[in-house]
Amino acid sequence: MSYVDWPGELALGIPAMDEDHRHLVETLNELRETLLVAPSRRDAAGLLLQFVRIAREHFGREEALMAERGYPAAIEHGHEHGELMAVLSFMLDAVRTGQANLDSDTLDHVRRWLCGHIENSDASLASFLVRHG
Ligand SMILES: [Fe+2]
Ligand SMILES: [Fe+2]
Repeated sequence: MSYVDWPGELALGIPAMDEDHRHLVETLNELRETLLVAPSRRDAAGLLLQFVRIAREHFGREEALMAERGYPAAIEHGHEHGELMAVLSFMLDAVRTGQANLDSDTLDHVRRWLCGHIENSDASLASFLVRHG
């Protein structure tokens, strides 16, 4: 069983969002595998950097979509993205400089955040997009 199942409860029916989320989930699963099988800081840091890049691009696309479609909760939704990006940047710096190891607890935090955000905030956005299609 994967660390995060795709699509599980996470598919929202908006192809552009689903494709980005699938990519995020796959990278998170790969990161988890790397930590379990070969806990090398360099591999983990590389994958974490990849995850951060994918997340940043994805959040930018969602935020542009929310602005374009006049989504009423765009500001709150954008703040949630900002919170995760702050956590990820801090984590990435700590891992790269050797101040912290990327461990299971940290990764679990990211997993809970990602799944919770997709199942709640992104699901609300998806249903708005469908209703106002
Ligand atoms: Fe989002
Ligand atoms: Fe999303």
